[in-house]
Amino acid sequence: MDPIQAFSEYEREALEAIENAGDEQSLEQSRITFLGKKGGRLKDLQKLVGQVAAEVRREVGKAFNDVKTRVNEALEARKALLAKPKATATAIDVTLPGTPFSTGGLHPVTQTMREFKDIMGRFGFTAVEGPEIEDERHNFVALNIPEAHPARDPLDNFYLATARSWAGGPLLLRSQTSTVQIREMEKTKPPIRIVSLGRVYRPDTIDATHSCMFHQMEGLMVGEDVTMAQLKTVLHLFAKAYLGEEVTVRFRPSFFPFTEPSVEVDMLWGDDWIEVGGAGMVDPNVFKAVGYDPEEVQGFAFGLGIERFCMRRHEVTDIRRFYENDVRFLRQF
Ligand code: DAH
Repeated sequence: MDPIQAFSEYEREALEAIENAGDEQSLEQSRITFLGKKGGRLKDLQKLVGQVAAEVRREVGKAFNDVKTRVNEALEARKALLAKPKATATAIDVTLPGTPFSTGGLHPVTQTMREFKDIMGRFGFTAVEGPEIEDERHNFVALNIPEAHPARDPLDNFYLATARSWAGGPLLLRSQTSTVQIREMEKTKPPIRIVSLGRVYRPDTIDATHSCMFHQMEGLMVGEDVTMAQLKTVLHLFAKAYLGEEVTVRFRPSFFPFTEPSVEVDMLWGDDWIEVGGAGMVDPNVFKAVGYDPEEVQGFAFGLGIERFCMRRHEVTDIRRFYENDVRFLRQF
């Protein structure tokens, strides 16, 4: 038999057997068959080397050695592979430091909202919730925002393309939390002292201080003798409770359909005044819309941008940071 052919046949069979060995025992069996010192097939091949003509012996001897090396290597590799699971299972180094858990945390806006509720709770305001998908009555009509008012422009609101309210009118993502004033007055009698915190949606051009979704805290206090002085006191106390005694707040005359008189609320940040919300005395038309008698009750209302306060406290200069979900940013809170 041609020795070279015998070598390659042997190699093919040996490698196949090694590859197919599923455990250490059957691998050992293959080792005995193909590489065993006593009676292994290698022995027969080695004899062939001795039988060839002297001039080719060197070459055939080398071929024999190469095959032997390759089969040995395959065996060792297979052995290491089969031994692996056992090795890791027993090789636990108890002196190594453990893997630290990374725990989750509350989003800065959520933390801020919880703190706002807490502060307002101390002033006697109860936190209530309202839906984010609204009808025109609660987002506009009852808030004294007439049909032709620019605030109702479809380009300034996220109207839902197909869904309709039960009354048949269009639905939209609420553009302000003032909607919750209406919902609350519809279902309770005065006196009322509530806040409502949550998301609002506007198709604004997004920049460092604007986002098409942000959070507001709405406040409403209704009673027999609620005054503008109380409104100013509550907002001053609120700002100081959240930002510290040194915060400066100012009120600027303004206009909102649902309050009369109305003010805009600004806060000093470095050398700049930043607007943080609007407020005022509830307009008699709003009371009429919910069935209250404006001759008997009065009230104040306010709506504040939650992110603006959080940005001021934590020196965050770009509102978009809150919504990017970059953990390097979120971990700071
Ligand atoms: N809803 C107003 C806005 O989103 C803010 C506001 C102003 C709320 C005056 C009020 C208010 O309750 O009385 O711009």
